[in-house]
Amino acid sequence: MDMTISRVDPAFRDDVRRCFEDQSHAIPARWLYDREGSELFEQITALPEYYPTRTETALLESYSGDVADMGGKGRAVVEFGSGSSIKTPHLLRATEPAAYVPIDISGEFLAASAAQLQNQFQQLPIYPLEADFMRRIDLPDEISDMPKLGFFPGSTIGNMVARTSVDLLRFMRETLGTGSQLLIGFDRIKDPDVLVAAYDDSAGVTAEFSLNLLHRINREMDGDIAVDQFRHIAIWNDLYARIEIYLEVQSDISFSIDGHPYDMIKGQKIHIENSHKYGLRDARLMLRAGGWSPVREWSDEKDYFSLILAEANPYKNAP
Ligand code: AVJ
Repeated sequence: MDMTISRVDPAFRDDVRRCFEDQSHAIPARWLYDREGSELFEQITALPEYYPTRTETALLESYSGDVADMGGKGRAVVEFGSGSSIKTPHLLRATEPAAYVPIDISGEFLAASAAQLQNQFQQLPIYPLEADFMRRIDLPDEISDMPKLGFFPGSTIGNMVARTSVDLLRFMRETLGTGSQLLIGFDRIKDPDVLVAAYDDSAGVTAEFSLNLLHRINREMDGDIAVDQFRHIAIWNDLYARIEIYLEVQSDISFSIDGHPYDMIKGQKIHIENSHKYGLRDARLMLRAGGWSPVREWSDEKDYFSLILAEANPYKNAP
C-alpha cells in the first residue's frame, strides 16, 4: 500500500467516475500525462515508427529563419503546452524573441525546462506560466506591450475534436491579441498503415503509455484494476480522419476504484485518445474557423507533417 498522501486532481477523479458510472467508457487524453506517462511519451517521440516529432523538428530547423523573415522576429514567443520545450531552441535562435513565455498545466516540468532554456539563452527574459490553456490566459504584465508569436507544436491540437480545436484557437487569439502570429504543427493524413504503426509500435511503448492510465487510476484512486487484462488498440477512423486509441478488456472483470465497485464485460473498450490528422487544406480551414489567417505553410517532402504560420488580423466584414 502506497503511504503517500493522495493528492488526486478532483477533475481527474470526476472524469474517471464519469467514465465508469455513466458507462461512457471515455477518459480525456490529458490524463495520460502524469510523471510516468510524460516519461513514456518522451520515449515514444524517439521510436522509429513515430515520425511526427522528428519530422516537425527538422521542419523547425529548416524553416525557423523563414518564420523570422515573415515578421516573427523580436516578438514575445508564447508556447502553449510547452512540456519539456524540446523543439523550442531552433525557433528561439532564429526569431531572437524579446521574451519567452512557456505555458503548461504541470508546474513540475515547467520549472525544469525553463531553467534549462535559460542556461542556453542567458539574455532572454523567461516568464514560465502554470495555466490551463483551454481558456483565456492573462499573460505576464512584462510582455503586455510586445507583439506576440504563439507556438503550438507537436500536433497537440490533434487530440481535440473539431469543436474543441476551434474553441482553443479562439482562446489563443484572445490571449495573444489582434496582430499576433501563431506557429502551429498539424499531422497530415497519410497511408493508414503508417499511421497505425505510429500508434501501435513494435516495441510496445505506446501500449505501455496507454496502460499507464489504468496504473495511474490504481495509484491515485486506490484502484485494483487488473491492468494485464487490458489490451491497447489503435484504429484509423477514416470518416473522422483520426487515430482512435482504446483499452479493450480481454475477459469479464470486476474492480473497485475509490471504494466503488465496477464491472466490465469481455470486449468492452475504454476510449482514451483521438489523434486527428489533416488533409491539405483541412488545417487551414480549422485555423480560419478559429479566427486565424494562414500566411504560410511548410511541409516535409513526404507531406507527413505541416507547420503553419497564421496571423490574427483585425476582423473585417465579409461579403
Ligand atoms: C502529443 C497528442 C501529439 O497524438 O501523436 C502519441 C500523443 N499518443 N502516441 C499524438 C500520442 C500516442 C501525441 N500528441
